[in-house]
Amino acid sequence: MAEKFFLTTPIYYVNDEPHLGHAYTTVIADILTRFHRLFGDRVFFLTGTDEHGQKVAEAAVKAGRSPQDQCDIMVQRFQAVWEKLDISHDDFIRTTEERHTKYVQDVLQKLWDDNEIYEAEYEGWYCVPEERFWTEKDLIEGNCPSCGREVSRLSEKNYFFRMGKYQDWLIGHLKQNPRFILPETRRNEILGFLAKPLGDLCISRPKERLAWGIPIPFAPDFVTYVWFDALLNYVTAPESRGGGWWPATVHLIGKDILTTHSVYWPTMLKAAGLELPETILSHGWWLVEDAKMSKSLGNVVKPLALADKYGVDAFRFFLAREMSLGLDATFSETALVNRYNSELANDLGNLFSRLIKLLHQFNQGRIPAEGLPDKADPPTAVWDRVRSLINEYRLNAALDEIMTYVRSLNKAVEDAAPWKAGKTDPEGTNRFLRSALEDLAAAACMLWPVMPGKMTELLAALNLKPCASPLSSLKRSLSAGHLLPEKASLFPRVKYEPQSEAPKTPAPSAPEIPLVTIDDFRRIQLRVARIVGAQAVPGADKLLKLEIDLGTEKRTLVAGIAKHYKPEDLPGKSIVIVANLQPAKIRGVESKGMLLAAEDDGKLILITPESEAHPGSKIG
Ligand code: ME8
Ligand code: MG
Repeated sequence: MAEKFFLTTPIYYVNDEPHLGHAYTTVIADILTRFHRLFGDRVFFLTGTDEHGQKVAEAAVKAGRSPQDQCDIMVQRFQAVWEKLDISHDDFIRTTEERHTKYVQDVLQKLWDDNEIYEAEYEGWYCVPEERFWTEKDLIEGNCPSCGREVSRLSEKNYFFRMGKYQDWLIGHLKQNPRFILPETRRNEILGFLAKPLGDLCISRPKERLAWGIPIPFAPDFVTYVWFDALLNYVTAPESRGGGWWPATVHLIGKDILTTHSVYWPTMLKAAGLELPETILSHGWWLVEDAKMSKSLGNVVKPLALADKYGVDAFRFFLAREMSLGLDATFSETALVNRYNSELANDLGNLFSRLIKLLHQFNQGRIPAEGLPDKADPPTAVWDRVRSLINEYRLNAALDEIMTYVRSLNKAVEDAAPWKAGKTDPEGTNRFLRSALEDLAAAACMLWPVMPGKMTELLAALNLKPCASPLSSLKRSLSAGHLLPEKASLFPRVKYEPQSEAPKTPAPSAPEIPLVTIDDFRRIQLRVARIVGAQAVPGADKLLKLEIDLGTEKRTLVAGIAKHYKPEDLPGKSIVIVANLQPAKIRGVESKGMLLAAEDDGKLILITPESEAHPGSKIG
């Protein structure tokens, strides 16, 4: 019976544009599944989108749409890119679909009934303006790692999954199944992570803070949070199709989501009484100028632009060939062009156009009837090696095999010099050319998973359909007498021409400072204030509580200057403050406004008017 091969990609957040990183995972997934289809396996390829959460809800409010409408619009960006990149997924799951939400609720209810979920107070650092919790570890110098503002200690009721109790079981599973996490470096990373105590997992958010999520059936004021929703897609999609697919053969992911997939997910499955996936395969990151690609760094590479410029197939080939599955790689368009010219234009494209030219020269452009007797390394031997490498997820080694084979075919033509030999031995030369075409057709079949479009084109020129017959019978299927095209130019050489209008990528260490308009600036009220009192804030060694006089009113303001100024030195000083900053509670103290200070090599220096200015004076 055919083997089952069920592969998944992460489901991507709809609030991001699909970029090179998303395209990489999905293209590699497509290549692996196409290989398995060639092997005759029963394949199920699943991808989709992760649609709940704060960001989508906010974007919807901004656009004046419902969150669902917002998702319906944004999901199309992903679907359009996958169509363009020839992605052959069997199912596309969206977490807002009923087949998903219903299943997630069923699982939650079961875990609650089985006492795998409990209710407790959650305590953490809360950033009021960003409306989110952070752990102690997340904080940067005691402040919100995202916006840099003060955070306050807050506790709220939430629901927790008893993840911690599965720690020993999970370690055992990892030890007994060396292929559960690949590559091995990632497996070791997770074993290292599991050497420390594993806590329970908070799986809920109160609806008042996050409304756009799946309601928890036993707690109507709560929705389930991110991972409990997202991870379950891998089961909800195949189950909705009548079952029989779960467990997955492989979850292909980026290393950014390794812990959630190899710790949260297996423990969730175990608790729910579901089987575990066979393998979690984690690939590396595409870096741009040595930094991870991200929207905030402004170094996002758009996959569609590259596919338009160099062709979908060349782009797919580059992604698969350039990055060693598991390691990081740096993206550069020059590298793409070099790969294209050396391997596609020279090795593969040239071989094809040369053979066609020679057959027009010696056999009226027709495929000869007879080939040479079998050689020592027929394509089936190459294919067997490719197959076992693909089964081990060693995609790069498999492509090396195929490209080495293509180069060996080129060399054979070089050595036989048919352009000379044809003049003295036309019959022998025609045999040679037929065999060379057979070998090229075999190479094209092997490359079809990587470049389905171009390889279909190549095979069509030989009157063959891709993968219609196993490689072993391919020789016989090459029809004698078929008229070849006059000319073939599969991969015309390209030049790298950097687009001058393309925005320059800012270096990650010195992000470009965005410009503000004069109107933006006018919205900020800067004023002179006089310090009338200052004291330490208990329990916070960086903070001082200042009483300030603004002429028409007195205010309290909390400032992070305790390491630089003594409270007794401050009264009487004139300072500059942002007067219309949204008030915030910092360590229980209501702070209204922010003072300005210069930072010089880590030292803070207060900004004061150059000569006497009345408290309350406007600055602008
Ligand atoms: O994390 N290099 O979605 P996401 C390589 N919704 N791959 C990259 C990459 C880069 N620079 N950037 C992103 C989520 N990726 C969750 C997943 S799954 C149940 C929920 C790829 O939109 C890579 O596959 O942030 C990574 O794991 C994924 O995009 C993250 O996509
Ligand atoms: Mg992400």
